[in-house]
Amino acid sequence: MAKKPDNQKQIKDVAAILEVSKAMMAEKDPDRLLNLIVDKATQVLEAERGSIFLVDFDTKELYSRIAQDVEIAEIRIPWDKGIAGSAVQTRKIINIKDAYQDPRFNKEIDKKTGYRTRNILCGPLINHKDEVIGSLQLLNKKDGSFNDYDESLITAFSAQAAVAIENAQLYQELELTFKSFLKTLSSTLDARDQTTAGHSERVARYALNIARAMGFSEEEMKVIDYAAALHDIGKIAVRDDVLLKPGKLTPEEYKKMQSHAVKTKEILDNMFFSRGLRAIPHVASSHHEKIDGSGYPYGLKESQLSKAARIMAVADVYEALTAADRPYKKAMTPEQAIAILEQGKGTHFDAEIVDVFIKKRLYKIERRKFFRMDATIPLEYLVQSDKKQVDDQPVKTETTNISPVGLIFSSQRSLALGMILELVLHLPEKDLKVRGKVIRNDPKGSQHIYQVGVEFINLAAKQRDVLSGIFLVDHV
Ligand code: C2E
Ligand code: SIN
Ligand code: SIN
Ligand code: FE
Repeated sequence: MAKKPDNQKQIKDVAAILEVSKAMMAEKDPDRLLNLIVDKATQVLEAERGSIFLVDFDTKELYSRIAQDVEIAEIRIPWDKGIAGSAVQTRKIINIKDAYQDPRFNKEIDKKTGYRTRNILCGPLINHKDEVIGSLQLLNKKDGSFNDYDESLITAFSAQAAVAIENAQLYQELELTFKSFLKTLSSTLDARDQTTAGHSERVARYALNIARAMGFSEEEMKVIDYAAALHDIGKIAVRDDVLLKPGKLTPEEYKKMQSHAVKTKEILDNMFFSRGLRAIPHVASSHHEKIDGSGYPYGLKESQLSKAARIMAVADVYEALTAADRPYKKAMTPEQAIAILEQGKGTHFDAEIVDVFIKKRLYKIERRKFFRMDATIPLEYLVQSDKKQVDDQPVKTETTNISPVGLIFSSQRSLALGMILELVLHLPEKDLKVRGKVIRNDPKGSQHIYQVGVEFINLAAKQRDVLSGIFLVDHV
């Protein structure tokens, strides 16, 4: 056994673990947190590398999304296999001095990565409910092999790490719950007023562009994102004959329309926001305020309006001016809209924000969307290979993940990368015939199901427009 480290080193190690623990508790992004844990565990325990496996309770598997310097996106193994699995099953630390002599060690991974594992220290990650949620594995002690003292270090370290991982997972669940609630809320308005969904989405992107350029923190960006999604939610209180009027509003009707801003405030004031998000009601409801105090609903002046609120005003008006889907007016060109923003500098708008917006060309957002849409689109495909037809019948399936660039569908057959598909997409309005190339074919879980990613090829401009169109209408 290696000789016991001196007190100085023990004190240093405990201090290091406490320091890391603070950083871990602050990291809410699960992937970044896992990276941090592995990095720090590797440092403190003087190992060459490390990895974390987490338990997937649904599939009874262990998965790892990080492997330092090794490019493996996600590894999945049965939860009782290998050294990681043993630590999970036995809840004990496993200290292996010579990996190649241990039957639990899987040499295949070394073969794949070209790395030579000498020794391993692996400890279970146990949460506060005394459940094993995964294991932390360290490879190759820099000097010799892992000793008893290292075992006590990994125990202390893993206890902190398990709590941090659980926190991050809870936080992520909370955030998902929160986002799906927001989505439900905004979809109630989208169902009545087709233009709001696209409007709010684009306002968010302009506003986030500005916020990013002005150095906002991640949390401040989140406030902007949510506030933009909800800024017009008060329009649910506006009657259809006003809300959906294709022509010009009478002064009476305009007043009713303007009441949406104070309604937004009322609705959001009734929601609970965690500390970092408390500004959302103010930011969302102040988008019609002007810095000279002549706006509505409260006539707030520059000093009473947060920077985020002033960003929202610029983003909202620019979007409204250039929007192509307003039934009561034609879209302006970016130049015309910019001229209006320029005119409003110092009275309506914060001049600094307008300048950043224009000088950095932050209005150049991609109008098409590349993220997932909730609608399910049925489709059929035929595999084409050297002009020979492989299938004699089109294969029917569906996608819930489509953009003007490509789509993803689940398949029971594995489609080779590079295969060319003839596709017929049954879009809400019409069928679209396109060609695509298989660019991804990932096994999904343990069943024989594949996620097939297809990139469209030679899409005509018209087809692209049709595909862009479905995103503007159907999606928040
Ligand atoms: P919106 O269409 O999203 O417009 C947001 C804001 O952009 C407007 O706030 C206004 O500040 C600016 N804006 C929109 N169009 C123009 C324009 O042609 N010229 C200029 N200079 N600014 C423009 P506002 O005025 O408080 O309007 C709030 C909402 O009231 C609008 O949201 C829209 O939903 C509705 N609305 C306004 N005018 C009309 C109208 O003539 N007909 C109908 N049907 N709705 C209107
Ligand atoms: C991870 O990102 O790998 C952990 C979060 C989870 O999927 O539970
Ligand atoms: C979040 O931070 O996105 C959700 C927490 C909340 O409910 O405010
Ligand atoms: Fe508004």
